[in-house]
Amino acid sequence: MISERSPMPLDDMTPEAPLPPLPPEEELSALAKTFYDKVYAHPWIGRFFRHVDQARQEVKLVRFLLLSWGDASFGSYQGQYLREEHANLYITDELFDLRQALFAETLREHGHGGALVGAFLAFNERWRSFVVKRSVQECEPTYPGEEIVVVPRPA
Ligand code: HEM
Repeated sequence: MISERSPMPLDDMTPEAPLPPLPPEEELSALAKTFYDKVYAHPWIGRFFRHVDQARQEVKLVRFLLLSWGDASFGSYQGQYLREEHANLYITDELFDLRQALFAETLREHGHGGALVGAFLAFNERWRSFVVKRSVQECEPTYPGEEIVVVPRPA
């Protein structure tokens, strides 16, 4: 229960270090393509995207990066947006870590060094608490009848 005194959980972002400049949009699009190629081809995380158009997903990720990178004041709004967009997906810490690993692999394949890899991983970490659920019961449809997506880890 939220008491009158406790703040709404809108600002549960971790304290953040300043980020280096974001690569230009053209490079972000290339990164998003490689990243989602890996995600969509993956036997576990890829199954979450079975009904999601990859090209549109790439554009959305690039837009998200351009809006949110280094803009701490916008963070809680973006966090709420991500919470809603992922509300029906049973995302565990393990799936989040897997996404991080695929992201790091993508950056290295594009020739980016440790500083930028670290910055992206830290940036992504800011959103963990908005998308990860501790149980399936935490998942919610965002509109009536929306499917709750649960994908067990393949054996
Ligand atoms: C740093 C973490 C993450 C970020 C920044 C992120 C970002 C995004 C964005 C911007 C969208 C588009 C939302 C829209 O339609 O407007 C999206 C959708 C989606 N994300 Fe994530 N995401 C993250 C983590 C994850 C993880 C760990 C999964 C694991 C399954 C995931 C699965 C999905 C799926 C399946 C969609 C498509 C939802 C739909 O269109 O029905 N995301 N994400």
